[in-house]
Amino acid sequence: TTAAAVAATSVVVLDRGNNTTCTINLHGATVVSWRVNNQEQLFVSKLASFDGKKAIRGGIPFVFPQFGPWSFGPQHGFARITRWHLDRAPERLHNGDVEAIFSLMDNEFTRSIWNYQFRITYRLILREKELHFHIGVYNPSKDLSFTFNMLLHTYLKVPDVRRCQITGLQGCHFIDKTREGALYQEGREVVTVNEWTDRIYQHTPQEHVITNVVSGRKMRLHKYNFPDTVIWNPWIDRSREMSDFGDDEFPNMLCVEAGNVSSPVILLPGTCFEASQILQQFKCPYNLQL
Ligand code: BG6
Repeated sequence: TTAAAVAATSVVVLDRGNNTTCTINLHGATVVSWRVNNQEQLFVSKLASFDGKKAIRGGIPFVFPQFGPWSFGPQHGFARITRWHLDRAPERLHNGDVEAIFSLMDNEFTRSIWNYQFRITYRLILREKELHFHIGVYNPSKDLSFTFNMLLHTYLKVPDVRRCQITGLQGCHFIDKTREGALYQEGREVVTVNEWTDRIYQHTPQEHVITNVVSGRKMRLHKYNFPDTVIWNPWIDRSREMSDFGDDEFPNMLCVEAGNVSSPVILLPGTCFEASQILQQFKCPYNLQL
């Protein structure tokens, strides 16, 4: 088979009608597009590589079992650079929503860097203005525990990152990776991004609202069992250092990443870990007016 033929079978599309779709690349089970009424919600770099080797620069890469640099393997783990299996092809539910299920199990490659058995199931549900993510990690071993980080590396598409506000971080401690990992406490009611930003906020609440995403709308990020929130934008100098990211693209993206990062999850033999996230595009149907 040619590279093109392989690439052609690498993508799974959930189609809810009304030009509302979600596209998942089996390389990393990376969500590479989420359109609501034809409007793209996720940022993907124009220089992103789809060679089936590198992580895809944008969308929602799946970070596991390591967040950040790793002495045993690639930065942010192997899940985002491994081909996942499609367990259940997109299926319409009784209420019109569309669901698909992906999975990743240990294989020769993963065991060569991280010698544990595991099974991850990743269920995505596309609703009218929402995308739901349900993750299960199972440890099938009879006697070995393992620890891991996990994170959904969401790249939101935004018209101008300087105009975005992120709620829900006030009072949280954060590790500032732009300052040698020093620990600070957030004083602001809403966080804005006006420079190179790379922070791990710890013990964040279940909900963040991000303002001024596409079309000036708001995005609600709701998370369960993901205690940390990473906020990242490379800004000018760091953009230049990335070969798969355009020098002028940083104003159009904001990473708001829900994860288990600052303390790893310990998974005992025969047990399962579950976490989930909901992204919801909204005008302002809630009492919360920003
Ligand atoms: C963020 C990290 O989550 O991902 C940053 O906090 C990192 O430190 C960024 O630079 C991108 O990582 P990568 O491996 O995709 O270039």
